[in-house]
Amino acid sequence: MKELKKNVYWTGKVDWEIRKFHGNEYSTHRGTTYNSYLVKDEKTALIDTVWSPFAGEFLDDLEKHIPFGKIDYIVINHAEIDHSGALAELMKKIPDTPVYCTKNGLKSLTGQLHGDWNFVNVKTGDRLNLGRNELLFIEAPLLHWPDTMFSYLTGHNVLFSSDAFGQHLASERLFDDLVDPAELYEESIKYYANILTPFSGLVEKKIEEFKGLNLPLDMICPSHGVIWRKKPLQILDKYLDWSRNYQENQIAIVYDTMWQGTTKMAEAIAQGIRSADEEVIVKLFNIPRSDKSDVVTEVFKSKALLVGSPTVNRGILSAVAGFMELLRGLRLKNKKGAAFGTYGWSGESVDIIGHSLEAAGFEVLHKGLKATWMPDAEALEESFELGEEIAQKTRI
Ligand code: FEO
Repeated sequence: MKELKKNVYWTGKVDWEIRKFHGNEYSTHRGTTYNSYLVKDEKTALIDTVWSPFAGEFLDDLEKHIPFGKIDYIVINHAEIDHSGALAELMKKIPDTPVYCTKNGLKSLTGQLHGDWNFVNVKTGDRLNLGRNELLFIEAPLLHWPDTMFSYLTGHNVLFSSDAFGQHLASERLFDDLVDPAELYEESIKYYANILTPFSGLVEKKIEEFKGLNLPLDMICPSHGVIWRKKPLQILDKYLDWSRNYQENQIAIVYDTMWQGTTKMAEAIAQGIRSADEEVIVKLFNIPRSDKSDVVTEVFKSKALLVGSPTVNRGILSAVAGFMELLRGLRLKNKKGAAFGTYGWSGESVDIIGHSLEAAGFEVLHKGLKATWMPDAEALEESFELGEEIAQKTRI
């Protein structure tokens, strides 16, 4: 347990080992933390817990600092198991303690943990009086689950923001100003791109709503990573930027290949882009050899995406198909796209990718470029020209 402010403590777990999160969906190169917080006042409130594998050490550490019986309230801002997992063990110790959560939090908690506990449903504007200060609840549905809420601690001016503003970044140094800012930025934008992107419209509204409350803000305490205390509004403003059709002057090319034919097309397209626009950043990713969460982040930053696959069995390569499914769910906005690929016999891949790009919300700028067998000089020239065309059509 570590003190954040007088009588406000971090009581989470730093997980240096984890390398895959949400099953195998999200890479966590720098580990993560599961942040739980304790507020001592005339009454004591515990906010969130940790993932169940760490329940034992979480409870041991908690008990060193406060007898379980002295915890008056438990607040669950979000019931996903990485934050609620240890609740089941804690409730064995203090089964009658009220658990504050949203209506959807109740559904999710009972669905996952099957506990019949003393739940108290709260909604935006409800307050929990701790004595000198209060917890003010602000529902934040779909940031990033329907059950999510924020809790704001008056007097201390601390926002407990659940997953929003988090990062998968393990650190023994609790605060944003004590870690490498480049690492912090990388993990923050990756987190937004992979977790919050589908809900960007709601992110924007929620931040504007929160700013409209004009609450003083000393700290934002997310459920993962470090705490924002150095100008905490900075991360709110970053989220506003990211939620508003974010793009940089970058084009990504994502592909897979069997015998390097589609690779040659990808490289010729990249050369065409560079020749038409010296300013634009071009990045190529052979998708099965790349980390898909990192590539999602690069696509999030890009204004356009070219996707390539050879045709195999009248379809596309499975790694490209998997990536397109990932993009479909993210519902990126304001992105342009085009497809390319080689084929020997039937040649369906380019059309399949074009349809997948449309289904993912991309504006498709080109009917797609096919090349037979190993691309010859003419096919590579056409690839180069496709790159030039995409660069010209997306020039900022
Ligand atoms: Fe970190 Fe949505 O749980």
